[in-house]
Amino acid sequence: MNNPTPINPKQIAGERAAELVKDGMIVGLGTGSTTAFAIQALGRRVAGGLAILGIPTSYQSAFLAAECKIPLTTLDEHPVVDVDIDGADQIADFIAIKGGGAAHTREKIVAMSSKRFVVVVDESKRVDVLNHPVPLEVLPFARQLVLKQVAKLGGNARVRMGVNKDGPVISDNGNFIMDADFGAIDDPASLGEILSQCTGIVEHGIFTNVNKVYIGKKDGSVDIMET
Ligand code: A5P
Repeated sequence: MNNPTPINPKQIAGERAAELVKDGMIVGLGTGSTTAFAIQALGRRVAGGLAILGIPTSYQSAFLAAECKIPLTTLDEHPVVDVDIDGADQIADFIAIKGGGAAHTREKIVAMSSKRFVVVVDESKRVDVLNHPVPLEVLPFARQLVLKQVAKLGGNARVRMGVNKDGPVISDNGNFIMDADFGAIDDPASLGEILSQCTGIVEHGIFTNVNKVYIGKKDGSVDIMET
């Protein structure tokens, strides 16, 4: 007897969320391995006649969208996005930590420009209390100042180092990425507001504007939560 194909929770979450997209929509294309399944599903629908325009949140999603032949646009041409589908590193209720792929600045700009911000994750990302290190995009000139400001807030930040590249990760915007560990984050919305005030931080990875969450599970089901 053949073994059944194993279920990929990221794939079922991404593909279900892609069903939200309708003809004529402007669609935010998030970054990461879960959203990639949504982008590929959209590509298949575009091949079948679906008319959409995508706004990528990174070089990764722009490259994938081009491969999938999804026509792209910009926020200059379409400042209002109908729906944005993106992954997360961790989610508690409707607050997500993002930026594991160093793309959270553009991701947040697209999410904040969207009528609906939809997060796709596998069940390992769902927690009661967020405790994932918070990615920070930081101006290189402000490295020491940001390390000091995070320490003052009780966190411990490190510059993210490259893999297959010596030295720091450089974001799509030409900045450093830091991962700031705050332990358990009891009030992520307030922490996000404080980090937004820190000099030298371009953007942090706490997203408070999530409208809908698709959680793919190993048993093949998808939990869907909506605000
Ligand atoms: C990119 O910077 C991130 O915000 C990703 O969306 C996040 O890390 C989720 O990625 P995966 O879907 O690959 O886990």
